[in-house]
Amino acid sequence: MEKIHIPVLLSETLNYLNIKDDGFYIDCTLGDGGHSIEILKRLNPKGNLLSIDQDQYAIDFVKLFYKDFLATNWEIVKSNFSKIDSCVEKYSRKPDGILMDLGLSSRQLENSHNRGFSYQQDSEPLDMRMDTQLGVSAKDLLIVLPEKELTALFLRYGEEKYANKIAKAIKKEITNINTVGDLTRLVYRVVPAAHQSSKNPSRRVFQALRIVVNDELDSLQTGLEKSFKFLNSKGRLCVISFHSLEDRIVKKYFNNLVESGQVQLLTKEIIAPTDQEVRSNPRSASAKLRVIEKI
Ligand SMILES: C[S@@+](CC[C@H](N)C(=O)[O-])C[C@H]1O[C@@H](n2cnc3c(N)ncnc32)[C@H](O)[C@@H]1O
Repeated sequence: MEKIHIPVLLSETLNYLNIKDDGFYIDCTLGDGGHSIEILKRLNPKGNLLSIDQDQYAIDFVKLFYKDFLATNWEIVKSNFSKIDSCVEKYSRKPDGILMDLGLSSRQLENSHNRGFSYQQDSEPLDMRMDTQLGVSAKDLLIVLPEKELTALFLRYGEEKYANKIAKAIKKEITNINTVGDLTRLVYRVVPAAHQSSKNPSRRVFQALRIVVNDELDSLQTGLEKSFKFLNSKGRLCVISFHSLEDRIVKKYFNNLVESGQVQLLTKEIIAPTDQEVRSNPRSASAKLRVIEKI
């Protein structure tokens, strides 16, 4: 039996969404359905839930795992949330709450369907596409980008101190780099031992490649703007981010909306998981929840 993703900051998110039983809610990041199912349970037949994910494997999993919960008021759509406008156009009502729980689910990391999301899946190919219909894989990037651009990519999206050394080694050895293990071993060799903390030194390189392959930061910016536009008055937008590049975008966008008087910021202090949640689900450790309410 596969291990299911444990939803992060679940009770906090549900509280902030302030669910009305006949309201309309959008979960932009269905994943294993942990947040969606709890939203659905709080709705009556007049309420609607639209769940979006760009990974068809996630959708297939949820449709099977929660087959007894599938209902006419729960729509599941394969799409990037940056195209939320085309997902909502058939609804005659505005959403009362929208959730984004960013990044990957733990099941995607552990059972990636051979996409090599995690630096721990040694034998998997360097693919990293959440939506397998996207054109460019991580390996393609390593091949086509010149050393200078690869360095910039690792610096900008991984904040990797040894970006240039790693990029140089990749270009030199590109014909021998096919799998996750090929890349992690190269990084181990190139990054000085003193820089190799308890965390895997490939972590930042993998983060950078994944962000670019899936165009994650631009999708986030567009997704936030469109979500806010569609939100009902008094509707709430909840975003859970897992690293500083994502969180900076959310924070800046929310602050701009506050300054222009369009929203109220409900999380003056960032909401982070309790020690107890981190102990029972270490993957939640870096989670940050920010919430706004449209005026
Ligand atoms: C952290 S998981 C969500 C977990 C979910 N809340 C749960 O409790 O099971 C993030 C999910 O969002 C999806 N995702 C990430 N970025 C996306 C985007 N731009 N558009 C649509 N889905 C996205 C991923 O494929 C993944 O399934």
